[in-house]
Amino acid sequence: MTAVDAEPLAAPRFSKSARGRLTTKDLGRFPGGTLFDRLGRAVCGASCLPRRELYEAWEMARRVRRRFRGGRVVDLAGGHGLLAQILLLLDDTSRTAVVVDPVVPASAPRVQAALCEIWPRLDGRVTFVCGDLHATAIGPTDLVVSCHACGALTDLVIERAVAAGARVAALPCCHDLGSGAAEPLRGWVDGPLAIDIGRATRLGEAGYRVWTQTIPAEITEKNRLLMAAPKARGVRGAIISGT
Ligand SMILES: C[S@@+](CC[C@H](N)C(=O)[O-])C[C@H]1O[C@@H](n2cnc3c(N)ncnc32)[C@H](O)[C@@H]1O
Repeated sequence: MTAVDAEPLAAPRFSKSARGRLTTKDLGRFPGGTLFDRLGRAVCGASCLPRRELYEAWEMARRVRRRFRGGRVVDLAGGHGLLAQILLLLDDTSRTAVVVDPVVPASAPRVQAALCEIWPRLDGRVTFVCGDLHATAIGPTDLVVSCHACGALTDLVIERAVAAGARVAALPCCHDLGSGAAEPLRGWVDGPLAIDIGRATRLGEAGYRVWTQTIPAEITEKNRLLMAAPKARGVRGAIISGT
């Protein structure tokens, strides 16, 4: 084959799991008028968020909103707080959100400003609290969310939500297999899955109705989404799965 009749090089695939930052160079990847494309352009304008964070937050938020409406959003271990802000965009009946993290990224205000520029109605509705999971009080009408709280932090998120009787949605991250939490299911399923099944089971035992879903694995292999709400009085709940 000569240089003349050589196959054109395929354009590199745009990986949704990449950790590289979305910048203004990526604006053309979000050309449309959909909410997601507008969000993508806002995030590109802020030029500080890893690509994967946008897709994780979006996919988690839309699944959470199909299940849970309203309530203050409490985003624990929230980092830039993108998840909280998308949850407000998807449901205006949630008036406010609080994002809690001991290390609020210096670029978080940039993301917030970029979103407020396009959606001024978000202005003043999202508060950042620099602190650990206990840095904010949680009430029964709150919606507690957490995307990729590392290891046992996800358990603490769930514990805090249950203690308050609040709804909870978590996308667990790395799993501490040395903790013994995966036993006794290790003979049947892999350790991380065993830990997540344990979480779902404990929520059921705590009187919660549980929904288990996934976000696309092309974004992250840590893609199990666990959602739970206190059972309404008199309703018998179960673990329910879906996409
Ligand atoms: C993997 S990052 C996820 C950040 C964000 N939720 C996201 O999806 O991009 C884990 C976050 O947990 C935060 N974190 C660590 N220890 C914490 C604690 N004790 N309480 C609350 N957040 C904590 C870290 O600062 C970090 O922002």
